[in-house]
Amino acid sequence: MSQSTIVTGGAGFIGSHVVDALLAAGNSVTVIDDLSTGDRERVAAGAELRELDIVDLPALRAVVEEVKPNAIYHLAAQASVVASVEDPGRDCEVNVRGTLNVVEAARVCGAPVVFTSTGGALYGDEAPMPTSEEWTPAPLSPYGASKWAAEAYVKTWSLSSGIPHAVCRLGNVYGPRQSPHGEAGVVAIFSHHLHVGQAPKLFGYGKPTRDYVYVEDVVRALLAATGKRGTYNIATGVETDVLAVWDELREAAGSDIEPQLAELRPGELQHSRLDISLASRELGWRPEVPISEGLRKTYRALVEEFKKE
Ligand SMILES: NC(=O)c1ccc[n+]([C@@H]2O[C@H](COP(=O)([O-])OP(=O)(O)OC[C@H]3O[C@@H](n4cnc5c(N)ncnc54)[C@H](O)[C@@H]3O)[C@@H](O)[C@H]2O)c1
Repeated sequence: MSQSTIVTGGAGFIGSHVVDALLAAGNSVTVIDDLSTGDRERVAAGAELRELDIVDLPALRAVVEEVKPNAIYHLAAQASVVASVEDPGRDCEVNVRGTLNVVEAARVCGAPVVFTSTGGALYGDEAPMPTSEEWTPAPLSPYGASKWAAEAYVKTWSLSSGIPHAVCRLGNVYGPRQSPHGEAGVVAIFSHHLHVGQAPKLFGYGKPTRDYVYVEDVVRALLAATGKRGTYNIATGVETDVLAVWDELREAAGSDIEPQLAELRPGELQHSRLDISLASRELGWRPEVPISEGLRKTYRALVEEFKKE
């Protein structure tokens, strides 16, 4: 049955893919985005874009009351670790206050919320691997702290309102439409370097590992989490080092550029690998795209995007 949905952050990298999937399934979609890092060009023609800041509760509530969504996918966020260190106040405002506003607006119309938190910036360096949702977070950055605080509001509002809200802690998401101009997102950054023929810097001498997950797998997980009450790691459970990502992309590009190796930046995690067994059991979800296939698909798609820039 066709549903009415809202995607906050729907002009962003992951949110725009969520919008596409919801439209393809026959739903109506309203995007709420302030276009701070988002791009209106990413929003599919079939969706309606409302340009507003989620920190503005009256404006947010007015849209939610008008749309009367059956579900809200809450991806709008201050999503940069570096920006969170430079301005922790704004990071807190958007990620904590903004999320409180979303669950508060959702309460009025009884809509379940699916909230995207982070599995990378939350658990800290001491976490055993693969890290399960049970591990007590020990974030290293204001961004990790604000996501953790926001999770608490989502869970508390779920309990007090009786509406089943879900928290999805994402691994390192990669795929088409990821911006190469941020500080994270090595797949997009490396792809851009390869496209323009520039050597990238591999921090930590290319050894740090991450749990990379393809954006389409993430979208399927967020849809599967709709109406569930729980906290789920959404990743692959597979650890890949930065050098292996570079090698794979370099092969896809047919390039022989050598990277520069540099020391790990302060505050950066050495390793990350998430336990995804809970999502598999409770959401019936598993990632389907192996990293080598995902990297090749991403490289091809990003190069087409770079040509239009
Ligand atoms: N990309 C990853 O690897 C990753 C990993 C873990 C968690 N996440 C989370 O997933 C979500 C989406 O991330 P992304 O990578 O697509 O980032 P993104 O920056 O591409 O998307 C965020 C979107 O939110 C919008 N936005 C920001 N502040 C807003 C505000 N105050 N009001 C309204 N809209 C606002 C931006 O304009 C942008 O369109 C975020 O919540 C992020 O924290 C991402």
